[in-house]
Amino acid sequence: MDITVNKIKSLKGTIEIPADKSITHRAFMFSALTKGKCKIYNYSKGADCTSSLNIIKQLGCEINIISDKELIIDASQALKPSNTPLDCGNSGTTTRLMSGILAGQNFSSSLIGDESLSKRPMKRIITPLELMGAEFIHNDYKLPIEIKGNHLSGINYISPLASAQVKSSILLAGINADGLTSFTEPYKSRNHTELMFSYMGADIKTQGNTVSVSKSQLTPAEIEIPGDISSAAFFIAAALIIPNSDIIIKNVNINETRTGIIDVFKAMNGNIEFLNERIVSNEKTADIRVQYSSLKSAMVEGEIIPRLIDEIPVLAVAATQAEGTTIIKDAQDLRNKEADRISAVTKELKKIGADIQETPDGFIINGKTDLTGNCEIECYHDHRIAMSAHIAGLICKKPIKIKEFQWVNISFPEFLNLINKLSI
Ligand code: S3P
Repeated sequence: MDITVNKIKSLKGTIEIPADKSITHRAFMFSALTKGKCKIYNYSKGADCTSSLNIIKQLGCEINIISDKELIIDASQALKPSNTPLDCGNSGTTTRLMSGILAGQNFSSSLIGDESLSKRPMKRIITPLELMGAEFIHNDYKLPIEIKGNHLSGINYISPLASAQVKSSILLAGINADGLTSFTEPYKSRNHTELMFSYMGADIKTQGNTVSVSKSQLTPAEIEIPGDISSAAFFIAAALIIPNSDIIIKNVNINETRTGIIDVFKAMNGNIEFLNERIVSNEKTADIRVQYSSLKSAMVEGEIIPRLIDEIPVLAVAATQAEGTTIIKDAQDLRNKEADRISAVTKELKKIGADIQETPDGFIINGKTDLTGNCEIECYHDHRIAMSAHIAGLICKKPIKIKEFQWVNISFPEFLNLINKLSI
């Protein structure tokens, strides 16, 4: 589906952002380990989370969809082998977290994925899981992979990467392993696994950048999932750069391991306020008010990168509207996402007149630049490139055409409706 995006005057009004993708994956997968029934309220309808849901169903869980907002996962029957491969679709989170779960089962499984996922690196989880006793068959550490379930032992793993997917994979193997499993990362990545593990009764401790678990049985729970700050980020960026905008985004997860984008936008002079702060199933949540702001440039590097890794494409769009030079560094893992996001963002923003330069681990962006439009944008089968391009299109002088915009359905099928609702 190709779409045309036209310039708008401003964004005004209130929207509710759909459920967080990372937390939904975890709610689905962790429920599958409880040997009981879990009720999940407000879950992501994106294709990535549907991949996780389909897989736990294939492994023997019963899914009862009560309404658009509510489902029950019945995992009373212990997980059992599937005689067909488990399809992770486009989802790195499904692949890496499920691998941690499957490594310690008493059966074998095979994982497959789409073309993009089959190119993504899995060595980052295979190496530590093998150290725990897991057995894999793979070709150059890529999907498809076979996992032979094994008896696992805890390890003390020092990760070269700050990655919540790797951390979660090891911790999921760890709750099924003998002894203690500890994971240490150079910077703190998102901690939804830690928070949900403790919500579901696991024996887990965090000290600085080290998390440790011992063998634990997760207990059935009711889980309410707040809105996704990574989805909200497109609207936050749009409201900051489109004159006269003033919006409220309701029910957004503001876990501090995810709010790097808010910290950077505030440092750029962005007018952003948290309202009605509360805790929802162990996760901090708030409504967010955003108003148009005269942005200035920022330096974005180091520990903040894992706290805003998924928001960097739309941050790059906002930086084109900030006075001065924005430098984004230490984000080399962006090249291993659904697309090489450093190269994709640079190439597509250049087409609309941005002053942006690619570096090995990020970007140098000079602003403020009037964006031109009147061109075709590729989204590289990457939902976040598609949505970032859409936000840029809202301020281009002439319309842009975004090709294959349906990739947005990977994380945020409601995106276009919500943009249309706020656009004036
Ligand atoms: C995720 C972690 C991040 C993020 C991804 C979701 C998660 O990946 O980019 O969209 O849910 O754990 P990495 O762990 O590879 O940085």
